[in-house]
Amino acid sequence: MRLLFFSALTTSAAQASGLATSGWDAAYSKAQAALQKLSQAEKAGIATGVTWEGGPCVGNTYAPSSIDYPSLCLQDSPLGIRFANPVTAFPAGINAGATWDRSLLYSRGVAMGAEAKGLGVHVQLGPVSGPLGKNPDGGRNWEGFSVDPYLSGVAMEETIRGMQDSGVQACAKHWIGNEQEVNRDTISSEMADRQTHELYVWPFMNAVRADVASVMCSYNKVNGTWACESEAILNELLKNELGFRGYVVSDWNAQHTGVNSALAGLDMTMPGSDFNTPRGSIFWGSNLVEAVANGSVPQSRLDDMVTRILAAWYLVNQDQGYPEVSFSSWNGGKASVDVTADHASVARAVARDSIVLLKNEAQTLPLRQPKSLAIIGQDAIVNPAGPNACTDRGCDNGTLAMGWGSGTAEFPYLVAPVDAIQAQADKTGTQIITSTTDDAAAGAEAAAAAETAIVFINSDSGEGYITVENNPGDRNNLDPWHNGNSLVQSVASSNKNVIVVIHSVGPIILETILAQPSVKAIIWAGLPGQESGNALADILYGSTSPSGKIPYTIAKQRSDYGAGWIYAQTDSFTEGLFVDYRHFDKNGIDPRYEFGHGLSYTEFAYSGLSINVLATSGPTIGSIISGGPVELFESVGTVSVHIVNNGSVEGAEVAQLYIGLPESAPLSPPKQLRGFEKVFLQAAGSGTATFELTRRDLSYWDVTLQKWVVPSGTFRVYVGASSRDIRLQGTFSVAS
Ligand code: NOJ
Repeated sequence: MRLLFFSALTTSAAQASGLATSGWDAAYSKAQAALQKLSQAEKAGIATGVTWEGGPCVGNTYAPSSIDYPSLCLQDSPLGIRFANPVTAFPAGINAGATWDRSLLYSRGVAMGAEAKGLGVHVQLGPVSGPLGKNPDGGRNWEGFSVDPYLSGVAMEETIRGMQDSGVQACAKHWIGNEQEVNRDTISSEMADRQTHELYVWPFMNAVRADVASVMCSYNKVNGTWACESEAILNELLKNELGFRGYVVSDWNAQHTGVNSALAGLDMTMPGSDFNTPRGSIFWGSNLVEAVANGSVPQSRLDDMVTRILAAWYLVNQDQGYPEVSFSSWNGGKASVDVTADHASVARAVARDSIVLLKNEAQTLPLRQPKSLAIIGQDAIVNPAGPNACTDRGCDNGTLAMGWGSGTAEFPYLVAPVDAIQAQADKTGTQIITSTTDDAAAGAEAAAAAETAIVFINSDSGEGYITVENNPGDRNNLDPWHNGNSLVQSVASSNKNVIVVIHSVGPIILETILAQPSVKAIIWAGLPGQESGNALADILYGSTSPSGKIPYTIAKQRSDYGAGWIYAQTDSFTEGLFVDYRHFDKNGIDPRYEFGHGLSYTEFAYSGLSINVLATSGPTIGSIISGGPVELFESVGTVSVHIVNNGSVEGAEVAQLYIGLPESAPLSPPKQLRGFEKVFLQAAGSGTATFELTRRDLSYWDVTLQKWVVPSGTFRVYVGASSRDIRLQGTFSVAS
């Protein structure tokens, strides 16, 4: 076998753009020089928030007077700038993940970062890879990209590079084990070492590798200790093992002790007041100065906190004429500048290319100038009270385009599906008949009068400080809301040509819907953001062939997942490594729509599997760089495959590579995603998908050695169009 170094092939879109961030070494030099000029009180102030609503942003620090450094502005969210307007309301993380498109992920990051910088936000609180999404009903899964750590990791890396290339500091969150909303402030995530590394740490490794400026520690406990004061999680895992050189900021009020958190590796506390008694008391600020004075916290620790915070600021060049904050979160958020530029086009592209065509019987889609079309369901229209009528999107009225909670932004506008479809219909003379409530009888009546019916259903979730329709952040079930099943049943009884469009935060159970013979096509459009209708019309009318792939498994029944949020103070993470498709594969459970599934208007054929991998077995050694041991990220070769577009329209295929580890890696999942490439092909065109493998891609975490280890033996290689639609298989061996 030949060892090939095709590093250029999988260079991230970010790196390819040539916009590299300046290095940590230079940033540290500047930070250390600045540190010398600061008083103790100023140092503590740089590490301490000014209290909730104490400044224009959701988090603000104290500005020192001895150096030219601002009151840092930290602002949500992972999909746009919260509490400010106008801004672009981008598609949610789960949609960005569903594109499987590195370059779009990067572009979305660039555009979000540009808006943050334009508004004077120093730290944008995203992206998210915790929750990872092990619980299909977890309330905040949609803020992240995918339940698969590899896909999530790539998405983290591209997004962070994009954001930071635009000049804003990214904040990878929530570190770590914050997998549900119910009891999130008290629950202990009892995570075994191997699953911690292979599932939950993995995407954060990519984040650190992308030089993420900051990491937010989470509300929950990890193995009995608060995440924000866990030596094992902060100092040892994040800073030593992953080589993270930025700063750890607490989630808002996730700090519980002053000294312990400082010693464990927390670097910044937010929002600076806590809800203990007396209310408003703070752990740091002057108390941190006192703790250093009395020897409870070493001077070196305080200096380290400040150095990290300042270095992150220098890293993304925020010392060079950064804009002033130009809005206030607390008075309607009206900004004195318009930062939206042409970002709607990025938002539309992500929304469009994330749409997953789950089912398409008898080529029902794309639409071919139907004489009449019924548009049914309240998810087809914008909430009559306006798209921002509910604070932090905490209601499910009208079309769903983001979940609820802090991970939101204000819509500048929201293109309703019905309006975008009407605009198309006007061009083709199609009559549109609407029933834009969830009333089943009215829906059936509208459908009876039309050639084709499109039914819109949804399922919402969000952050636990808001309960919506009795869902406490986490979802009570995986059914469509507002009796969506009945609505579809009713429509399907009066029309033979039904298309179902789903706006959802995650999987919904589709069995009732699929039992209706009239349901010919199903589209998952996720949480598409402001360009919702336009993106959907692009796909419905076929101006673009669908190319999204579902970033989680859709089961036949909820219990098939083997995990879900719980009413408890301890989550034992008993599923181990077997989340989502790893669980379905191991237990031989047939999913309804498997992880990575998504149809197109054309067809792709795979051939010519070529495997060129040469790796040595054993533990990974070598010095620690950003992300982990340097060796872990070195190429060990490539797998490539030839793909032909056999259809008559252009389209894009996401070719996926899964690897099965040899038996010498005990108790491993049958296969795991370890590469993907989105290939854009003209009709009858062909191309090559090349997956570069690194040592990490072949490794498991050895709990005895406390190292990543490449096992010896025969590795199984699966390449295909989804995790179950495997087109080509092969093997390679690693000698012992
Ligand atoms: C709590 C959320 O968990 C976090 O994601 C967010 O950034 C902060 N609140 C600030 O709003």
